[in-house]
Amino acid sequence: MSDNSNKNLSFELRSDGVAVVTFDVPGEAVNTLQASFADEFEALIAKLDADPSVKAAIIVSGKADTWIAGANIDMLKACKTAADAEALSRIGQRGFLRLEKLEKPVVAAINGSALGGGFELALACHARVLSDDKKTVLAFPEVQLGLLPGSNGLQRLARLIGLQAALDFGLTGKNMRPSKAKKLGVAAEVVRKSALVEVASKLALDLAKKGSLKVKPSKITLDAKGLTSLALERNPVGRKVLFSKAREMTQKKTYGHYPATERILDVLETYADKGFEASSDLEARYFGELVMSETSRQLIGIFNAVTALKKDTGVDDPEIKPRDVHRVGMLGGGLMGGGICYVTMQNANLPIRLKEINLEGLARGYQYVNDIYAERLKKRQITKFEKLRKSALLSGTIEFEGLRDTDVMIEAVFENLDLKRKVLAQVEEACGPSTIFASNTSSIPITKIAAEAKHPELVVGMHYFSPVHKMPLLEVIVTEKTAPWVTATAVALGKKQGKTVIVVNDGVGFYTSRILGPLMNEAAFILAEGVAIEQIDGAMKRWGWPVGPITLLDEVGIDIAAHVGPIMVEAFGERMTPPDTMTKLVADDRKGRKNAKGFYLYGEAAKKKGKGKHVDTSVYEVLGIHPDKTLPPEEIQMRCSLQFVNEALRCFGDGILRSPRDGDIGAVFGLGFPPFRGGPFRYVDSVGASEILRRIEGYHDRFGARWEPAPVLIEMAKNNKKFHE
Ligand SMILES: NC(=O)c1ccc[n+]([C@@H]2O[C@H](COP(=O)([O-])OP(=O)(O)OC[C@H]3O[C@@H](n4cnc5c(N)ncnc54)[C@H](O)[C@@H]3O)[C@@H](O)[C@H]2O)c1
Repeated sequence: MSDNSNKNLSFELRSDGVAVVTFDVPGEAVNTLQASFADEFEALIAKLDADPSVKAAIIVSGKADTWIAGANIDMLKACKTAADAEALSRIGQRGFLRLEKLEKPVVAAINGSALGGGFELALACHARVLSDDKKTVLAFPEVQLGLLPGSNGLQRLARLIGLQAALDFGLTGKNMRPSKAKKLGVAAEVVRKSALVEVASKLALDLAKKGSLKVKPSKITLDAKGLTSLALERNPVGRKVLFSKAREMTQKKTYGHYPATERILDVLETYADKGFEASSDLEARYFGELVMSETSRQLIGIFNAVTALKKDTGVDDPEIKPRDVHRVGMLGGGLMGGGICYVTMQNANLPIRLKEINLEGLARGYQYVNDIYAERLKKRQITKFEKLRKSALLSGTIEFEGLRDTDVMIEAVFENLDLKRKVLAQVEEACGPSTIFASNTSSIPITKIAAEAKHPELVVGMHYFSPVHKMPLLEVIVTEKTAPWVTATAVALGKKQGKTVIVVNDGVGFYTSRILGPLMNEAAFILAEGVAIEQIDGAMKRWGWPVGPITLLDEVGIDIAAHVGPIMVEAFGERMTPPDTMTKLVADDRKGRKNAKGFYLYGEAAKKKGKGKHVDTSVYEVLGIHPDKTLPPEEIQMRCSLQFVNEALRCFGDGILRSPRDGDIGAVFGLGFPPFRGGPFRYVDSVGASEILRRIEGYHDRFGARWEPAPVLIEMAKNNKKFHE
């Protein structure tokens, strides 16, 4: 018997009495949940309930890679009021409760990702069987969109794995992979994809035969930490301690910028203290509020931009297609080259041939790749087999042997124009006539590197961020001569390597390095005025930056910043002139973390002072400063952040950026601009162009040329326009 009259859900009844329910939203690449499915869902449950030939059911997905990817974002965006969104949450809660209360067992048979509402649906089922496929993963990513799971997923997860573990998944949005799900008792079984339906059906039937809707939880062995937390959860005083600790830690990480985290804590605390119903009611109301919040609006804006970039070829002409890449070459296996090798092997699954200057260099490159694998193995993010299999994709040479068939040659040799030109000439000599040459320079214009090239149309920039295997952005830089197919090929390769890719036009500092310059300069000016280092870094972190600018200078290298400074001044004039801080520091051999001598203490000296970061106070003497000036944190935050925003707008005006969308993504993913503010362009939209202009003009009056407002900003303010509609 089968019933396929409904649009999204269909079912086949097997001869053993198991109804195989398939969720398959027609015409969509992935399944998402929509309120309009509620009636269909309700009717299906009623049918399963009423049909005596149905003994049990399993839910599978009709899509190859996803089970259910969560609530449909467009549906959330269409909400006009908090009440609209609250109603959506209540619809989901009711539907899933009805499923949970069904007296016939329903088993979620999951292959692919079950995210957000998808995970909640799985948790409302009576048991879960997961495939061991790499794509199979459970998670609550709602928090990353400024939301909370709105269909009682948190409570059901807490029921299964305890409050603290549920909080961890709810507050971070992190993935629960099949082995972990099994260990925690969330999955009853983990099996090969091919056995999924059979094993899930058997489990469903077994449960039906036993007349039980509960799977006996697998024996979970708790370590000392687990036992303490369980002891804490079981009594009201312990729970108070647990929640107050969790709130304190959350506040420390978010500085209160992510209201969803507080709401998640509230819901689970109410569940623990007052029960399921009271927490459901609260959850629906909070869901309504959060969907309408500015934070969620900005985070969803970023999510949509990333989704759009996945489909973007990087060129405007739809006829231009990327060429196939079968072999990648890598010049230089240092910090960046090693990381690029890793993402090419691991994510793009492509062979990569590393060329270094000598065997020591080659060994360093191999070691770097190996270290990343070791770290991921230790964290159980990959298997030993996978490591060995992928390692075979790396080969090395100290000559240009075996590189003729290279489709894309990426260079990450030292930052030196003559050297880059020299290796480009060598590549033209040693490789094929259509080998792309992609430079990972962080500051040299690609046009300069390509100036003497025989084939400048094959030269492009592929600017990765450090550490390459963790940072999500790739900035592809094109010159006037870069062939569009070369751009499209670089973009496609970057995506395969797992990157979110933006394409920018060539210019000094491209986009990302250019906009960081004025922020760093402003921080240096504030320091030169006599404001303490901790005050500057602390204020910026409270605004939402992941690290303060002075810490960043130590990380990037004071010598590198000092080298780039004059290049920026030459290109952009007076407004980029830094104070003489850098010169003084370089003269004192302060390079930052790399030589353990910078603004902060490192090594033994730091250890002696205890936990955390400590300023090396001797730096004030070198700079001739008494750090006794106090500025309101808002002034530090505005001056540094608005310099960054103003320069981003200039890049747009100068045609460096293809769109404000790319400018937002580059700033958030490459440089850590606070995501909940949406990126520089969305930030201007939300505050208002005239207000931003008013603030910048105020600083212009006080500090002069470096605060010249971007012409685009003046234009937007005059016409009362926004960058995003
Ligand atoms: N470090 C960063 O954060 C960062 C970020 C983005 C871009 N970049 C850029 O990436 C490039 C490399 O930076 P890095 O930090 O990896 O430097 P690195 O010093 O760690 O590595 C450079 C490597 O290139 C090798 N090399 C030098 N000449 C070579 C040649 N002719 N052929 C083959 N290999 C050669 C060296 O042996 C060395 O191993 C630079 O252009 C840098 O500006 C760096």
